[in-house]
Amino acid sequence: MRTTAVILAAGQGTRMKSNLPKVLHPLLGRPMMDYVVNVASQVTGSRPVLVIGHEAEAVKQAVGDIADTVLQVPQLGTGHAVQQAEALLRDSADLILVAYADMPLLTVETLQSLIRAQESHAGPLTMLTVIADDPRGFGRVVRSTSGSVAAIVEEVQATPEQLQIRELNLGVYCFSAAWLWENLRRIPLSPKGEYYLTDLVAIAVSQGLPVQALSIQDRREAIGINSRVHLAEAEAVLRQRINQRWMLAGVTLVDPQTTYIEADVTIGQDTVIWPNTILQGRTAIGESCVIGPNTIIRDSGVGNRCEVVSSLVERAVLEDDVDVGPFAHLRKGAHLAQGVHMGNFGEIKNAYLGPGTKIGHFSYIGDATIGQDVNIGAGTITCNYDGEKKSHTEIGAGVFIGSDTMLVAPVKLGDGSRTGAGSVVTKNVAEDTLVVGMPARAIRKLRKRDPS
Ligand code: UD1
Ligand code: CA
Repeated sequence: MRTTAVILAAGQGTRMKSNLPKVLHPLLGRPMMDYVVNVASQVTGSRPVLVIGHEAEAVKQAVGDIADTVLQVPQLGTGHAVQQAEALLRDSADLILVAYADMPLLTVETLQSLIRAQESHAGPLTMLTVIADDPRGFGRVVRSTSGSVAAIVEEVQATPEQLQIRELNLGVYCFSAAWLWENLRRIPLSPKGEYYLTDLVAIAVSQGLPVQALSIQDRREAIGINSRVHLAEAEAVLRQRINQRWMLAGVTLVDPQTTYIEADVTIGQDTVIWPNTILQGRTAIGESCVIGPNTIIRDSGVGNRCEVVSSLVERAVLEDDVDVGPFAHLRKGAHLAQGVHMGNFGEIKNAYLGPGTKIGHFSYIGDATIGQDVNIGAGTITCNYDGEKKSHTEIGAGVFIGSDTMLVAPVKLGDGSRTGAGSVVTKNVAEDTLVVGMPARAIRKLRKRDPS
């Protein structure tokens, strides 16, 4: 059967108390709504339809092409929201899966069993429910004396007896499409002035049609996000799921409780992650690395056998066998080739460091290209900014930069050259030449591959 998902994301989410639309609040690096959209497209094999309204343009931008969108203006409730998808889906789907964008923890397995249950059900819909002691404001599932589902009542309209009901409506349903489109228009206006999708349950029952409820076992899937308290709860569950997945894939997390790995990160086998480590965005870490403690890596590529201790790495590339830290800062465009050693208190921005190059102690390298096997002495600075423009520094292979050298860009140092401690290099330096002083002057030619 052709199944398409309709995901509701048009509401304002007032309980978040935020200028950002609720469905755009990030959960482990992705907008909250992405999670439902992704699982829904996986189980249906078709692109979901996202109903947008509040801040529609921003939500549409954020969802990109992983969903089609339809507009709901004004937002007159969840039933009214689903109705907006009718024109798009009337002839193209036999089953409609409906979910709310604020339920990020639903799994593929759960949605699959919901669809299967409806495929073999005689009635017009199957819904997901959960048995829980904490109702969290969810609608209550009212059953008849015979035990069949009779209605869903929203918390605000429930009687004191109904408030005691422990079976809750998750807000995830699979409908026969023909019945859904036919009956959405029969939903009555609620006292709050909204058309509740949940009223379709009582409508089916009044037509003598059975409504099937499928109860989920893992209550953590039922965390819907209405407030920032729920957001933190969901984040904790997602984090745990992701961490478990990496541990099962062969990554050691010394303390999963304090390890934060966002959804799009990848990590190779036998990598060890120490506590207080945060891996964000499109970060890819290779095999047999040691990362952390106290490290943040964001949108960066890290090769195999690298070590990064107590450092901040942003939009950088580390090739294999690189070691960094403690207390290093790699910024956008830093590229450390194989075997680079970068010690403490260094900062690198928009610069390539060739294989085997060493930069051990408190230095700033910005806008530079550095060859292989260069030694950068303590306190070296590329003076790349003259107050108006940025300039480039180029350092050849096998260069030895003495401690506390200032490289006033634009400047070029030829292969095999050296600078004396405290030099201020303002002019290009020829190959195999030693310069010293302020401003630095050539004092002698070095023998090629001078070992001193
Ligand atoms: C809803 C259900 C409730 C269920 C709970 C589970 C209804 C009437 N109630 O309540 O039974 O237990 O979810 O999470 O369905 N939305 C629109 N357009 C609108 C209104 C809402 O797109 O006009 C979207 C919201 O953006 C949100 C979703 O629908 O993603 C649910 O709306 P929300 O206000 O959070 O409903 P709940 O009160 O949580
Ligand atoms: Ca909700």
